Amino acid sequence: MENDVVLEVKGLNLFNRAGDRLVENVSLSLRAGETLGLVGESGSGKTLTLKSLIGLLPPGVSETHESRLDNPNCAMIFQNPLSALDPLCPVFRQLCEVIAARQGADAQTARARASQLLSRLSLPEELAVRDRFPGSLSGGQCQRLLIAMALACRPDVLLCDEPTTALDVTVQKQTIELIRSLQRELGFAIVFVTHNLAVAAQLCERLAVMRQGRVIESGPTREVLTSPREEYTRTLIGAVLPVPEMEA
Ligand SMILES: Nc1ncnc2c1ncn2[C@@H]1O[C@H](COP(=O)(O)OP(=O)(O)OP(=O)(O)O)[C@@H](O)[C@H]1O
Ligand SMILES: [Mg+2]
Repeated sequence: MENDVVLEVKGLNLFNRAGDRLVENVSLSLRAGETLGLVGESGSGKTLTLKSLIGLLPPGVSETHESRLDNPNCAMIFQNPLSALDPLCPVFRQLCEVIAARQGADAQTARARASQLLSRLSLPEELAVRDRFPGSLSGGQCQRLLIAMALACRPDVLLCDEPTTALDVTVQKQTIELIRSLQRELGFAIVFVTHNLAVAAQLCERLAVMRQGRVIESGPTREVLTSPREEYTRTLIGAVLPVPEMEA
């Protein structure tokens, strides 16, 4: 069904100021509730592709495309949670502000909804009554706070840029479980960027493998992992097989 598509871009090219092509002819499409993994080496263009999808390209990066879906309802979770928060503003206030801005809620309603999100994401209720700044939260707590802020936007698509690489393995696992259970509950689609194929395999129905700005291979996760067509994909698979999640 055509109207089932919540995010789509065709023939995306991104350039830097010098005119070098950073991303070349990338096409991605996502249906409601679907999870797409975007994997590939450092510098292959994963983050820039996400930023283009949400309309937050950094200054100096320009874009051309054949077509794209207008006004996709996206929210994004960044790789380094601390850098995505205002260090000088109490975290609960930041959450309330997002809710007020994105849901058009008054201050009292925003506070009530923010409190609900705290408990849904297993964050300390204390955050609602005492001023706590981002620097005093753990990495995992910061990331859950960002997830709460993203959910406050009620997205159709959650763009996750390596949301767990800054976390230790146990917290990584919890965070991924949390994103999955929220997805089951709320039904949003996900683009999950990672260089960890094992994590992608666990989470994603489809994979797109990026290298040097291009998608070199894509398809159902199982297919890509069991019969990769590209040598590069085989190398990626070889590099992550010892990771425990693959055994499940
Ligand atoms: N703001 C920017 N201005 C100019 N070039 C950029 C900018 N951000 C990234 N690039 C370049 O674009 C290319 C893709 O970068 P991108 O950050 O998308 O890679 P990535 O796949 O997310 O890598 P990583 O896994 O290390 O996060 C790289 O060559 C990078 O140097
Ligand atoms: Mg990146």
